[in-house]
This record gives sequence, structure tokens and C-alpha cells, in this order.
Amino acid sequence: MRFPPAFLDEIRDRVPISQVIGQRVAWDRKKTNTSRGDYWACCPFHGEKSPSFHCEDKKGRYHCFGCSVSGDHFKFLTELEGLSFPEAVEKIADMAGVPMPVRDEREERREKERASLTDVMEMSTVFFQERLQGPEGAKARAYLRDRGLTPATQQSFRLGFAPDSRNALKEHLAAKGVPKADIEACGLVRHGDDIPVSYDWFRDRIMFPIPDSRGKIIAFGGRALAPDALAKYMNSPDTELFHKGNVLYNFARARKALAKGGTVIAVEGYMDVIALAQAGFENVVAPLGTALTENQLELLWRMAPEPMLCFDGDKAGLKAAWRAADIALPSVQAGRSARFALLPEGKDPDDLVKAEGPDAFRAVLSEARPLVDLLWMRETSGGVFDTPERRAELEKTLRELTSRIRDESLRYHYQQEMRERVLSFFGSQRGGPQGPRGGRQDGRPGQPKAPGGQFAKGGGGRIAITESLGQSALVKRGSEGMSVREATIIVALINHPALIDENFAHVEFLDLANSDLRRLHAAILDAMAHDTADDRHAVVATVERAGCGEIWGRAVDLIRRARQWPALETAALEDARDALNQALHLQRSARTLHKELRAAEAAMDADPSDENFRHLIEIQAQFQDVQATEALIEGFGVSSGRAGRA
Ligand code: UTP
Ligand code: MN
Repeated sequence: MRFPPAFLDEIRDRVPISQVIGQRVAWDRKKTNTSRGDYWACCPFHGEKSPSFHCEDKKGRYHCFGCSVSGDHFKFLTELEGLSFPEAVEKIADMAGVPMPVRDEREERREKERASLTDVMEMSTVFFQERLQGPEGAKARAYLRDRGLTPATQQSFRLGFAPDSRNALKEHLAAKGVPKADIEACGLVRHGDDIPVSYDWFRDRIMFPIPDSRGKIIAFGGRALAPDALAKYMNSPDTELFHKGNVLYNFARARKALAKGGTVIAVEGYMDVIALAQAGFENVVAPLGTALTENQLELLWRMAPEPMLCFDGDKAGLKAAWRAADIALPSVQAGRSARFALLPEGKDPDDLVKAEGPDAFRAVLSEARPLVDLLWMRETSGGVFDTPERRAELEKTLRELTSRIRDESLRYHYQQEMRERVLSFFGSQRGGPQGPRGGRQDGRPGQPKAPGGQFAKGGGGRIAITESLGQSALVKRGSEGMSVREATIIVALINHPALIDENFAHVEFLDLANSDLRRLHAAILDAMAHDTADDRHAVVATVERAGCGEIWGRAVDLIRRARQWPALETAALEDARDALNQALHLQRSARTLHKELRAAEAAMDADPSDENFRHLIEIQAQFQDVQATEALIEGFGVSSGRAGRA
């Protein structure tokens, strides 16, 4: 019979493992520390002279450093004493003084039924696999080949093909003696009172078998081959075996891959999981066509403390990320959180690795942001907090948000962090308590009067800085850390080389934050050095010779999306000149301030004096001014091209 896991846990918890093992071995007096529940003995499994067999009551596990056996109470009894599992359970239950559970016949019958349904699913999987290899599968094979999936990948994910027929699977299963009721219970046919003859659920689709946590197939996803199909993807309906919201595609394999280290990555689609696996990322899962559910998050947390949630970088993707953040929020704790990675706009992971290789995906992951950043960004980005009412509103929203965290200690830390962010955010917007623009001393609770308070250790200042920078990185991620401002400069220069000459002094010493744009800059300088900077084609050719064609494409893309038309090739020279000058001016201020900020931060860290604090606040305010100016200029605004909040 099957034992309820809660029962097994209970008896295991009640009986110290040392008591079970102590019946078979003599503890080593020297190494053993009974008060800590820490026991050592010569290993009963491999026989030895000095003790390398260890067990710990707190963990309820044993391990031998000599022969590497390890396990719990039950494993010890089954492996060393040769008991069957139920016998071992009975013995431990006896030691624990807990009665054995009564057999639940209904549960056992259902267990059997489920087993026979998984058999049917397995037969169907094989059927679809065989169809993919057969003559009707030619079109599907070609499709998969075109999408770059190798035969080995197709096989390891057990991809298949459901032929364009109303009863191919149904008849195949019936011929193998599968009862009609089972076929229906597996969700493999459409049936019901209003359907006179049941017919195959999946027709003319590429089939993605969905395994459960042990690798048994419990459902299918089917991708339409016909471009005009009503639904691109269709999944099995919920059945006895399958509850959509409780399953993650590729869970079993990902969990296995995690043994090698790393964290689990959740993406949106089947194809993404498969393409990433082929590109070497095996620790990837996907929900099944729905937004991530709470149960799925729990599954992720069973695999890793900080799963990486990956979303498309467009508006819809950002919305999905926020939604996931909202779902995660109540349940986060120390060691149970999430990071959020946003992909370049309009690309899914499959597109990305195919176009730019695994490193491009790695880069996206490396820029993932923690949950707290995502929430802060959602509540503040694009917002204007220029009145007490609006600031109070923000504080209220943040309080409401953090109060949803159930874990008391983490809730406290989030509230503290948000408070500090608010303080430093307003401090820098308004010049802080003794800031350059008159400042204010309104005695708002918590407003730090001196750097000794919550701002100590450079906390407050640092948050404001990294936040504004981080935020722009996140929001402008469309092209991975390129800012619209810097891209405008470079794109305008390349498209209108006359401007290179005009601004020679500035162009030569241009200080750019983005490394890709720095390469384009180098190419421009190269063209200048070779006197080929007088026409656009020549400059673009130099860029391409330098291997920067792809970066160039991305920069232009970003400019288009940001609607910075004046930097484009088609713009009039005068317009391009205006845009360039504006961008150059802002760039100089921003870069200088950025450096000053770093220095002020460091000074504050080294010596949190009043003077250093004031200085930091001042520079923050100026930095904020530059950003505010940018936001006013069409195209540079952080909120351009995304859902702004009033
Ligand atoms: P996508 O539309 O992003 O598809 O849907 P995809 O996975 O990138 O697939 P390709 O590259 O177009 O072949 C993401 C996921 O949303 C679900 C599926 O689980 C899909 O993998 N989905 C999508 C549906 O359930 N139904 C649909 O009609 C579309
Ligand atoms: Mn796709």
C-alpha cells in the first residue's frame, strides 16, 4: 500500500535516527556528541577500522564518508536489514508509538486507476512519436527541422505528431484493448452528450508530451501546423492525472539538471524550454499556457530558493512579470524569493539563442533583478511625486504592498527597505533635508536629520543611485543596457557624418557607459582616422568591418522604438544636429554627475559625516534633475514606450 507522506514524516520525526541505527552499530565514544545528536561509528555497510559513518538526529539522515551510502530511517532498514518498505514503516511506527494508518481502499483503487491511465498516456505518446517518423509526419518533421531542433532533441523530449484524423488515436488505442472510458478519462477525445461520436482531441499538431515529476506522461500540448488553426497551442483538458496549474513542463529533467548547480529558470513556452535545453540550459521549465500559478511557484521553490522568472521585454511581458511578483509576494521568506529577467523586446528565449547564441541568454539572466526592485519600479516608474499628496499616496501603496508578505521578519525588512527608498527618493528629488533647493524640514516621521540614522552605512544614498541607474537599465533593456541618450548620439553621428566633423572635440572624448556603443564609437574614430568619415556608407562599412553590424542594428532598433526619429538616416541634418546637441549636453552632465555620485558615495561610506552626507544629497538632486529633463524630452523619457503611471 501507499503511505501518506505526512504519516511517514511524522514517524520519522518522532524517532531519532540514532535510535534506529544504534540497534546495529556501536557508537564511537570519542567522535560522538550525543547532546548535539551527532553520532559516529564504523560503517555497517562497508566494514572499516576507523569510524567514518555519521548520522545526525536533527536531519534524520546518515552518511558514510568512506563508501558514500546515505539515507533515512527507512532506507537503513531496507538496505541493511533487508526489510521490505512496509515492514520498515511498521517497525518505525512501532518505535514511534504511532498506529499504522488503516488501508484506504478507495484511495488504493484510484491509485490503480491512475496507473492504468498513465499506461494509456504512454501508449499515446509512442503512437504520436511513431506518426512523426511515418509518412504522414513528413510535414511536421520538416517544420521541426526548420525550427532548428535536432533529431536527438526531438527524441529526448519525445516529440510526436497527431495526424489530421478524427479517430486515428482513438482506433489505435481501442485496437489495443483500451476501454472507451479510459480514453475519455485521459482527455484524448472530445466526447459528451452533445457529441454523437467522440473524436480525437489533437489533430494535425506537433505533440509535446508533458511528464509529471517522475517522468510519467500525464498530458499533451499540441502545436498547430496550419498557420490558420483556431488555436496555436492546445493542451489536454484537466483529468484525473493532470491539473494544469500544478504542473510545470520539464520539471523532472530540470530538477535532475539542478543537481549540477545553478537555479531553475521559468520561461513561457514549450519551444523555449526545448530550444534552451538544446543550447545547454537544462534547468528550464515552463507553465502550461497560463500565467504562473501559486502552485507552480511552490514547485519552483522546491527546486531552488531563488528561481529565475523570465519574461518578454514588451509591455505584456512586464505585466506578466508584475503579476508573478504579486503572486509570489505573500509567500516570500528568507530563502524563498525570485529574480526577474526581462528579454529584449519581442524576442522569446528560443528566438534569442537561435539568433545570438547561448551567451545572449546568459547576459539576460545576469541582469535579472530581485523582487523588491520589480515592485519598487512598478510603483514609482513614470510617476511624478511632486506634491505631499502624491508622496503620501506612494507610501500608502507601498505599505499596502509590503503588508501582504506573510512572513513577519521579511515583511519588516521589506517595509524598512521601502521606507528607505522613499526617503532617499524624495531626498534626492527635493534636495533632501538640507538640499540645494531650499530643502524642507517638515519633520516627516523618519526623515533622517543626520547621517547617523537610517542612512548610515551609505544605505539611503546608495539605494537612490542604484535605483535610478538600475531602473533605466531595466526599462531600457530593450537593447540590453543601451540608453536612448547614448544610442541617439552614436546613431545620429553614423547616419549624419557631417556632424562628426562639427563636433570633433566632443566626439573624440565621448564617454559612454554602454560597452557595445563604445565599440561603435571606436569604429567612428577609426573612420575619422582613415578619412572615410565623410559619407554614411563609408562609416557604416567601417562599422561592419569592425564586426559591429549586429550592435548597429540593435542601436537603430532602439532609436526607432524610442521614436527618436531625428537620429535616423531619413531625418534632416538640422533636426539631427539638434537631437545630437541635446543628447551630448545631457550625456556630459549625466556622466560627470555619475562619477561625482560614485565619489560622493565612497566618501560617505568611508566617513559618514554631515558634510559628506549633504554633498551626496546635493549630487543626487542634480542627477535627478538631469533625469527629469530627459523625461521631459520626447524620446529620452524613462516611461516612453511603456505603460506609464500618472
Ligand atoms: P507563444 O505564443 O510564445 O508560443 O506561447 P511559443 O512557445 O513561443 O511557440 P512558437 O515558438 O510560436 O512555436 C507561449 C506558450 O503559451 C501557451 C503554450 O504553452 C505556449 O508554449 N499557448 C500559446 C497556449 O496555450 N495557447 C496558444 O494559443 C498560444
Ligand atoms: Mn517562440
